[in-house]
Amino acid sequence: MLALAALAAVACASLALYAYYSLSYWSRRGIPQIPKAVFPFGHIWRTVLFQQSFGEECSGLYDKVPASAPLAGAYFFTNPAVVVSDPDLIKKMLVKDFHHFHDRGLYINEDVDPLSGHLFLMPGESWRLLSNKLSPTFTSGKMKLMFPIMEQCARELAEVLDGGPGETEFRDLSARFTTDVIASCAFGLEVHSLRNPDEEFRYWSKRLVSPTIVESLVASFCNMFPKIANIFRIHSVPTDVDTYFTNLVKDTMNYRDSHKMSSGDFLQLLMNLRDDQKKAEEDQQKLAGSKDMKLNTGQLAAQCSVFFLAGFETSSTTMSFALHELALNPDIQKNLQQEIDETTRKSNGKLTYDDVMTMPYLDKVVSETLRKYPPVPVLNREVTQKYQVPDTAWLLEKGTSVIMPVLALHYDPQYFPQPQRFDPERFSEEQKNSSHDFVYLPFGDGPRICIGMRFGLMQTKIGLASLLSRYNMETCSRTVKELKMDPLSFILNPTSGMWLRYVPSTQEA
Ligand code: HEM
Repeated sequence: MLALAALAAVACASLALYAYYSLSYWSRRGIPQIPKAVFPFGHIWRTVLFQQSFGEECSGLYDKVPASAPLAGAYFFTNPAVVVSDPDLIKKMLVKDFHHFHDRGLYINEDVDPLSGHLFLMPGESWRLLSNKLSPTFTSGKMKLMFPIMEQCARELAEVLDGGPGETEFRDLSARFTTDVIASCAFGLEVHSLRNPDEEFRYWSKRLVSPTIVESLVASFCNMFPKIANIFRIHSVPTDVDTYFTNLVKDTMNYRDSHKMSSGDFLQLLMNLRDDQKKAEEDQQKLAGSKDMKLNTGQLAAQCSVFFLAGFETSSTTMSFALHELALNPDIQKNLQQEIDETTRKSNGKLTYDDVMTMPYLDKVVSETLRKYPPVPVLNREVTQKYQVPDTAWLLEKGTSVIMPVLALHYDPQYFPQPQRFDPERFSEEQKNSSHDFVYLPFGDGPRICIGMRFGLMQTKIGLASLLSRYNMETCSRTVKELKMDPLSFILNPTSGMWLRYVPSTQEA
């Protein structure tokens, strides 16, 4: 009994010592430490206990960085992380000193989860090679090729509302719209989930982006402790989801190859890359040992799935947040509708790619929506080479996580006065020029900036233009004005959904 008590005392003392040692990492290095880390969760206990979303928790940490310091140390569990609050330092880390921070440090294991081998997660040299290969498929020329598919989906979006007036939940409707767009543009499939919400592809795409609680806990564990996850070869993508998307891409490619078919979608652009690669090999243009990356079927499927992982909820939530704000701000909605109607009239009733991408007020409304509700509320990097923080003696060790709290910057009144106000004029030419660089980061920045920015903006804008050319958005009894964000979701996502009333605009009535 005595031995047992002694053993327990030693275990408790060791744990206390470990807790003290690991949670004093920053103080031992002379770097300011954010107060109140709680063992074993560190500074993210509200997120771990499902009380607050990760983005909001990181905003709280930003507020605690001392005003005199460009960053401060925090702990994610017992892992050290720095929270950077100084926009000049963020700029350096993302752009000039990128070679110290080129990875995200998240879990990726292509052998176990082929679908995880996509650009967002890819580290080091593999990321550089893949990024060089994929960048040409996201130019505005390539986006124009996909515009007609998108325009067709946007027309269907307005049609499914059935003339109105009525009430609907716009987060789900926007998600079905972006599902149809991505199914067509990325996978070459016409799924019509707008008309048929129970469509099979919609089911699997929902599974891909909305894991169960257990699946999201496993994925969070893998991202927090990637080394351990790698040793145990943990699946971070459910195997049934992996199999569905890999087979889908394989079957579509086989069908196109055997029927000599071609299309204007992203899968075709990837297949062309694969064919160019094969041809170069056959022509023996490829020097032995030269650095290139062969794209196998699993990798092609992974690049298509990234449209879902990185492009689906980001665009659909932006669309529904914009509609929510427009319903709350009828004057802004009216100005936007005027612009859309005038532009449509000038284009003989049919908006072109250039019309959609250059409407100035639509751009301001979408920019302000992305300020108030940045879908990716935190940018993260990993220190890949030891880094001395400029103008200090502070050294950041290799492997340290770096957190750039975008949501907090977007709500900092020194950069955006009265941050709760929805004011598209913050993005007028004059105001844009007078504001500080690197405090507005909805798409990130530097070499790892969002590669799908044009695509995301295009689908968000055409969806909004299509709805607002036919309907006025109004609040209804189910509209929740003070939105609460889902603590289980990394992307900013309201728990309540977004209920609005849609009424045919007078022009259509
Ligand atoms: C409104 C829509 C979107 C928003 C707000 C958004 C936001 C972001 C952000 C913040 C990042 C991280 C950038 C950084 O770390 O500096 C990112 C990366 C990325 N996004 Fe998007 N995104 C959107 C749409 C899309 C779409 C449609 C795609 C389609 C492929 C996409 C694909 C990617 C990829 C592949 C990366 C990783 C880039 C890399 O690491 O090189 N995104 N996005």
